[in-house]
Amino acid sequence: MPRIVCVAGARPNYMKIKPVMDALEGRGAEVLLVHTGQHYDPAMNDVFFADLGIRPPDRFLGVGSGTHAEQTGRVMTAFEPLLEEVSPDIVVVVGDINSTLACALVTAKAGPLLAHVEAGLRSRDWSMPEEVNRVATDRVADHLLAPSPDAVDNLRAEGYREDQIHLVGNVMIDTLLTNLARARASDVLARHGLTRGEFGLVTLHRPANVDDPAVLTGLLKALGEIAGRCPLLLPVHPRAAGRLAEIGVPGGIRLVPPAGYLDFIALQDAARVVLTDSGGVQEETTALGVPCVTLRDNTERPITVEQGTNVLAGRDPERIVATVNRVLDDPPAPRRPELWDGRASDRIADVLLNGGTASTRPRPTSLPRPKSADRPGPEDRTLPI
Ligand code: UD1
Ligand code: UDP
Repeated sequence: MPRIVCVAGARPNYMKIKPVMDALEGRGAEVLLVHTGQHYDPAMNDVFFADLGIRPPDRFLGVGSGTHAEQTGRVMTAFEPLLEEVSPDIVVVVGDINSTLACALVTAKAGPLLAHVEAGLRSRDWSMPEEVNRVATDRVADHLLAPSPDAVDNLRAEGYREDQIHLVGNVMIDTLLTNLARARASDVLARHGLTRGEFGLVTLHRPANVDDPAVLTGLLKALGEIAGRCPLLLPVHPRAAGRLAEIGVPGGIRLVPPAGYLDFIALQDAARVVLTDSGGVQEETTALGVPCVTLRDNTERPITVEQGTNVLAGRDPERIVATVNRVLDDPPAPRRPELWDGRASDRIADVLLNGGTASTRPRPTSLPRPKSADRPGPEDRTLPI
């Protein structure tokens, strides 16, 4: 049985890696959990290990916060000797954070097979650090594990080989479905004095929304108007905490610390509407059938708009208020995309355990040839296609 390193580093990774580890270990694989330490506050980290029953990491890299280059570089520097020592057959990375890209780059040069869970998602917004991480991680991955048909289409359009692309479904929904009954037993509504169906839930952490005080002030103005109709609860991401405190929030919006996983699922499940710039929350609201208004101009998860309850509102305050009012008056019908069925990690384990080894890896003799490109890559400028 292969030895597999599973990487996690920040809040949205834990609920993605847990079902993959379980499925691999359930089939007899030897799994090592490596935690990069990108997130470290108890409310951004420890609570997820407790809520989801994830065992303590086998290795902890402790990289902490920093600029993109500092953080990515620290993960790479710590992960390289670890790979040399552990010598795994496969490395699994999830999502689109800096730790994902850092471990992908190291793996690609060290030799093990690289699997990317959540491959093929594209916002086509190159100002998002996550878009750079997604595209670059997919480029060096052997197994591209896609959550939805749009992701498969993106990968095909970028020229990846068919044998690399696997439509497996959404691991985040595996974890949601496994834990939904436990989440519904949470007393979080009572703790916050909330009534089911009578409040809105908000999350904000994208740099484009929270780093510029002028933008954040505009968003808070919109939220203040919405709170006049539907009181809002906002669990505060540490990235936004300082600026929210400086600017201050309008009445009707209650700031609370980041919620644990079970509490946050319970809050989403009971909310009348969710307003967010989170990737994962767009997916969870779709699976729960709860109306979601996304405070961004684009989404790498278009299936949540086309086949779910998500509506893109952009970042203009007036448009946000109008969109939320429309959604409150006429909520979108609940729908759940195919393969968001709780079995994605089983399908991933099947791919990885039947996917050969590094010695049998097909070595492409040329770069992928994009069939259509939203932005020319370096190869487009230097090589004949
Ligand atoms: C990161 C990911 C983002 C993901 C988000 C999930 C990247 C580029 N970004 O963004 O894709 O959606 O996590 O929540 O990888 N901080 C703390 N305590 C912590 C962690 C962070 O106080 O435990 C503060 C620090 O001031 C830090 C800032 O938050 O500088 C940003 O943290 P960082 O991990 O760099 O990026 P996020 O904004 O959390
Ligand atoms: N989440 C949570 N508590 C919160 C906010 C989010 O448990 O206060 C969970 C949410 O249910 C989802 C994940 O964190 O499972 C999403 O992570 P985040 O929004 O930080 O990152 P993104 O998905 O945008 O990368």
